[in-house]
Amino acid sequence: MILVTGAAGKTGRAVIRALVRAGASVRALIHKEGHREAVSKAGAREVILGSLLNGDDLVKAVAGVRALYHIPPNLHPKELEIGELVISAAKGALLDQFVYHSVLHPQIEAMPHHWQKLKVEERLLESGLPYTILQPTAYMQNITSQLSDIFEKGTYQIPYPVSTRTSLVDVEDVARAAAIVFGDQSHLGAIYELVGTGELSQQEVAQILGKGLGKPIQAQQIPIAYWESQSRAAGLGSYQINTLVKMFRHYQIHGFPGSPRVLSWLLGRQPTSLEDCLARELEGYQVE
Ligand SMILES: NC(=O)c1ccc[n+]([C@@H]2O[C@H](COP(=O)([O-])OP(=O)(O)OC[C@H]3O[C@@H](n4cnc5c(N)ncnc54)[C@H](OP(=O)(O)O)[C@@H]3O)[C@@H](O)[C@H]2O)c1
Repeated sequence: MILVTGAAGKTGRAVIRALVRAGASVRALIHKEGHREAVSKAGAREVILGSLLNGDDLVKAVAGVRALYHIPPNLHPKELEIGELVISAAKGALLDQFVYHSVLHPQIEAMPHHWQKLKVEERLLESGLPYTILQPTAYMQNITSQLSDIFEKGTYQIPYPVSTRTSLVDVEDVARAAAIVFGDQSHLGAIYELVGTGELSQQEVAQILGKGLGKPIQAQQIPIAYWESQSRAAGLGSYQINTLVKMFRHYQIHGFPGSPRVLSWLLGRQPTSLEDCLARELEGYQVE
C-alpha cells in the first residue's frame, strides 16, 4: 500500500492513476470529505480523512503502508512545517520508500515555494529515510487548464515578457515517472529533475496553442498589478499572490530552463511535447 498526500489535487489524482495502472494499491490522504469522490475515481483503494498539519492524523495515515508519496499543497505558507510533520510520521512507520514531490530548482531562494521545498529536501536527506526526490518543472496543465479563455480572447496572457523562456512538463509524465521510481531500490537516494521540453519562449507556446486550437493566438504580457488585482478578486490569498509575483519577477530575469534528458531516461521515451499534451487534452474539448 502506498500513501499519497495532497491526493485530491491535480498532481495527486494523476499520480494515483499512474500508480494504480502500475499495479499498486493506493491510500489517499484528503482533508475534505468532498474530495473523496475524486480520489476514489482516480483509483484509490483506501481514503483517509486528515490534515497535513496534524501529526496524529499523519501517524494514522502512514500506519500499515510500505511507501509514501508526499505532495505538498500548492503555495502553502506552512509547506516546511508540513514536510517536517510528514517526515516525522514516516520515520515511525518503517517505510521502504519516501518519495518527495519537490520542484525544479528548489535552490532559488527568491521563490518562497521553491525555498521551502529545498528545506524539506534537506530534512529528508538528514532523516535516515530511504528517499527519492522528484523535481518537476512547471506543468503544461497550468496553460491547458485555461484553454477556453485563451481561445475566447485569442491571447495567451502572462505577467512577464513574451520572450521569457521556460521548460514545461506534462503532469501525466510526472505521474508515470513517480510510478516508475516506486518499488525499485535503484532509485533510492536519487534526485531527479523532471522536465519535458527544451526552453520555449512564450511566443512559441502561443504558436503551439494557435496550431492546436485552429486559430491564431498571440502571447501578451499583462502588467503584474493587473494580474494581482484579478487574482485577488478571484479569491487568491496574499501569501499565494506575493509568492507568485516573486516567481514572475524571477522568470522575467532568468526564465525557467531545464533539460529533458533525465525524464527521457526514466520514461524510456521522449517526454510528451506541448503539442501532444494539447492534442490529448483537446480530445473531447469542444471549441465554440
Ligand atoms: N503546478 C505546477 O506547475 C507545479 C510544478 C512543480 C511542482 N509543483 C508542486 O506540486 C505540488 C502540488 O501541486 P498541485 O497543483 O497538484 O496542488 P493542488 O491541486 O492544490 O493539490 C494539493 C492538494 O492538497 C490539499 N491540501 C491543502 N491543504 C491540506 C492540508 N492541510 N491537509 C491535507 N490536504 C491539504 C488541497 O486541498 P484544497 O484543494 O482544499 O486546498 C489539494 O487537494 C505543489 O507543492 C506545487 O508546488 C507544481
